[in-house]
Amino acid sequence: MTISIAVASGKGGVGKTSIAVNLSLTLSRLGSRVVLFDADFGLANSHILLGVNPTKTAQDILVSKTPVQEVLAPGPLGLKFLSGGSGLTELLNLEVKARYELIRTLDVIQESTDVLVVDVPAGASDSSITFSSAVDKLVLILVGEPTSFMDAYTFIKAANLEAGVENFSIIVNMVESDAQGLQHFTKFQNIVSRFLNVKLSYCGHIPFSQRIRNSVVERKPIMLTKQDTAETRAFMAVAKSIQSTPKNEPKGVTFFK
Ligand SMILES: Nc1ncnc2c1ncn2[C@@H]1O[C@H](COP(=O)(O)OP(=O)(O)OP(=O)(O)O)[C@@H](O)[C@H]1O
Ligand SMILES: [Mg+2]
Repeated sequence: MTISIAVASGKGGVGKTSIAVNLSLTLSRLGSRVVLFDADFGLANSHILLGVNPTKTAQDILVSKTPVQEVLAPGPLGLKFLSGGSGLTELLNLEVKARYELIRTLDVIQESTDVLVVDVPAGASDSSITFSSAVDKLVLILVGEPTSFMDAYTFIKAANLEAGVENFSIIVNMVESDAQGLQHFTKFQNIVSRFLNVKLSYCGHIPFSQRIRNSVVERKPIMLTKQDTAETRAFMAVAKSIQSTPKNEPKGVTFFK
C-alpha cells in the first residue's frame, strides 16, 4: 500500500522543504520507494535542495498530457522527484477541478511507489488545504516562535473545519536542545486543545543546525552524508515516529484512492 505524507506549515520559512527533502531521503535509506512531489507551485525549490534539475513539471502532465513516468526526475538513493513548476500557480489556486485532476493523475505511480511525500505551500490557501487533506498523514512543521504557533493554529483550524482533517503529526524544527522540542509541542498542544477537537502527535524535533543551512548552499542534503550526526539521527527518529502516527480518513479527493 502506498502511504501519502504532506509536509505543511502555517508560517513560511520554518523548514518544510528541508524536512520534506530529508524525510524523503531518510525513507529511501530505510528501504522505501519514495516520490517527492514539490507542490509549492510558484516558489518551487525542493529540486535545488535535492540537487536535481528536472526538465519537466506537473504542468506537462496537466496541460501537455505527458505521462507521469516521463515527468519524474531521478534523484539520489533511488528517490524520484516530481516538480510542480511555476506555470500552474494561478490555475491551481483558482480551480478545484485542476487540483483534483493532478491528484488523480498520480494514481499510475501507486504500484511503483511506497511513499509519496508532498511539499505543500505555506499557509492555509485553498491549494495548501486541498493537498494537505488529500494525504494519509499530515505533518505540520512548527518552530518555537509566537508567529509560528499562531499561523500553525490557523492552518489546523482551516484543515479541520474546511476539510475534516483530524490528525496532525507535529515536528518541531530548529530547536536548541532535545528538551525544547517537546516543550514547544506541549505548549502548542495546550493552546490547540482549548479550541479545537483534533489530535496532535509529537513526531520529534530537528536541531537548529549550521550543517542544514550549508547543505542548501552545497545542494547536498544532510541525509546524503554517511556520517552519524545529531541531524541524521533526528531525521531517522522523526521518520520512524511518523510511521506510527494515526492516519486521516479524508472525505474529499485523496491520493491513490
Ligand atoms: N533545522 C534547521 N537549522 C537551521 N536552519 C534551518 C533548519 N531547517 C531549515 N533551515 C533553514 O531555514 C531556511 C528556510 O528553510 P526551508 O526553505 O526548508 O523552509 P520552508 O518552510 O520550505 O520555506 P517556504 O515557506 O519559503 O517554502 C533555509 O535557509 C534553511 O536552510
Ligand atoms: Mg519550501
